[in-house]
Amino acid sequence: MTDETNFEFDRYTTYIRQRFGDHDAARMALKPFMPRAYYCRHFDFQPYAVWPQPDYARTTWDLHYWLFERYKYQYGFFLPSAELMDRLVSILRHEIGPAGGVLDAGSGSGFMTKELCSRGIDTFAVDRCDYENKEREFGYPMINVYQRDTLGDAVQYVSSQFGAVLLLWPPYDNSFAFDIAKAMHPGQLLIFEGEDAGGCTGDDKFFEYVSDRTGWTALKDLSDQLDALHVTFATQHDHWSIGRKIAQ
Ligand SMILES: C[S@@+](CC[C@H](N)C(=O)[O-])C[C@H]1O[C@@H](n2cnc3c(N)ncnc32)[C@H](O)[C@@H]1O
Repeated sequence: MTDETNFEFDRYTTYIRQRFGDHDAARMALKPFMPRAYYCRHFDFQPYAVWPQPDYARTTWDLHYWLFERYKYQYGFFLPSAELMDRLVSILRHEIGPAGGVLDAGSGSGFMTKELCSRGIDTFAVDRCDYENKEREFGYPMINVYQRDTLGDAVQYVSSQFGAVLLLWPPYDNSFAFDIAKAMHPGQLLIFEGEDAGGCTGDDKFFEYVSDRTGWTALKDLSDQLDALHVTFATQHDHWSIGRKIAQ
């Protein structure tokens, strides 16, 4: 390590010790569905509204890098606040009606599905990875499964029984996001959480497909409402985007 790296490392460990006691305490304290102010006060998150140039200190960046590495294996790839969930639930109720079902395609740990179900939104989680099987040879090293209603290819489960489809951090290195969007029916709502084109979520074909205005209506106002309540790790660039499919 250079002197400069040593200095950063010392500052970082001091910061963790002062704030949380130790790394384990920091990891345990970071959970989804807490009030937004909690993330800002205890972990130096900045609201998405200040993007695209949040001014993160180097120690915050290091802390978020470390926290994201742990958080994603315990919960998932993004951090929904309590206020964000309230807004998402009210958007879903309004847009798909009280009886409309939601498909969580590529649900990972299923932490969002479980929370949505507990808030009265009938959500069905599908992932092709058997995360409970610790001997498996593929998939992310997730350590918790909160809900998964079926194991399999989520594309096969897209059907008119769902009013909305969640695509939350779909992979960027295959056509999964595109295949889901293509299989969706006119009238269905697509709720995407991830990075923009060229980032770590969804491939180019997906972004080209959903930006075709003859096939999709971008619901910018609704996306902005979610982004206004969004927080994300200093190291990531994910946010919300909602559209309605209007033609096949
Ligand atoms: C980056 S993880 C995101 C997980 C979760 N949505 C989240 O945001 O925390 C992508 C997930 O998509 C799943 N996946 C990829 N292709 C799939 C397919 N064809 N059918 C179902 N799940 C799929 C992977 O197994 C993985 O759990």
